[in-house]
Amino acid sequence: MRNFNENTITDAVLERIAGATDPRNKQVSEALVRHLHAFVREVRPTQKEWEYGIDFLTRTGHMCDDKRQEFILLSDALGVSMLVDAINHPVPEGATETTVLGPFFVQASPEKSNGEDISGPMEGDPMLVTGSASTVDGRPLAGAVVDVWHSDDDGYYDVQQLDKIGDLAMRARFHTDQNGRFNFWSIKPAAYPIPHDGTVGDMLEVQGRHRWRPAHVHFMISAPGFEQLVTHVFVAGDQYLDSDVVFGVKDSLIREFVRCPPGRAPDGRMVDSEYFHLNYDFGLKQVASSARAA
Ligand code: BEZ
Ligand code: FE
Repeated sequence: MRNFNENTITDAVLERIAGATDPRNKQVSEALVRHLHAFVREVRPTQKEWEYGIDFLTRTGHMCDDKRQEFILLSDALGVSMLVDAINHPVPEGATETTVLGPFFVQASPEKSNGEDISGPMEGDPMLVTGSASTVDGRPLAGAVVDVWHSDDDGYYDVQQLDKIGDLAMRARFHTDQNGRFNFWSIKPAAYPIPHDGTVGDMLEVQGRHRWRPAHVHFMISAPGFEQLVTHVFVAGDQYLDSDVVFGVKDSLIREFVRCPPGRAPDGRMVDSEYFHLNYDFGLKQVASSARAA
């Protein structure tokens, strides 16, 4: 077959992949061709615009290395990451809602004990975080691994300023106690713009969008037999809750970071200045029995 035109080329490509043996690969390939061709038919790019698109994707790829993943950021800013999250994480009663992982998670996070202050050299408003991990029907999960990370009060993560602060801070890995509880001290995070010195920043600019995420603390909680929970808790009242650049906010994840006077804090510590207190109780879903068997 030859001499394809605008009306015949899509079917020709679909026919060419009809022999794919793996059904999932075939389904994905066919959908890719159909949607990509439909996009081009709708947009009718000039040759120059098409070249710009190729160059945009090339520059996006060139920005990626082991520290920067511009393609994930693109997926985040286009709402695709949250769409994939929504498809894969239905939330039964009692389970905590999920949201994007983001680029600032670090696998080798420092192990800390409950009650420790993880702010390192950072200054800001003291923040006590208390919380728990339990099953969806409220049974405490002892020994669950709780990874936390958040920005400073200027909106920067430790990994964005390692040359200045020297070491990881405002992140740690805790284990829940016998009652499924954990607690730590840090500083209250601020809202921040996502990295915008690359193609995603260019895209936001032309789309007339701002770059900001509302202030939040990230949590990743793991326990054997349970689905790993990746989520954040957002600061109530933040001005960007309704326009998060990556579409990650859910009502159930917004909490008051309660301003408390100096004195004895809920963890028993004497505090000589005002501080903020966040408490959040997380519910983890059991891994489906079919997935456990696989
Ligand atoms: C974050 O919250 O760390 C984040 C999430 C998605 C994109 C950029 C940052
Ligand atoms: Fe974040």
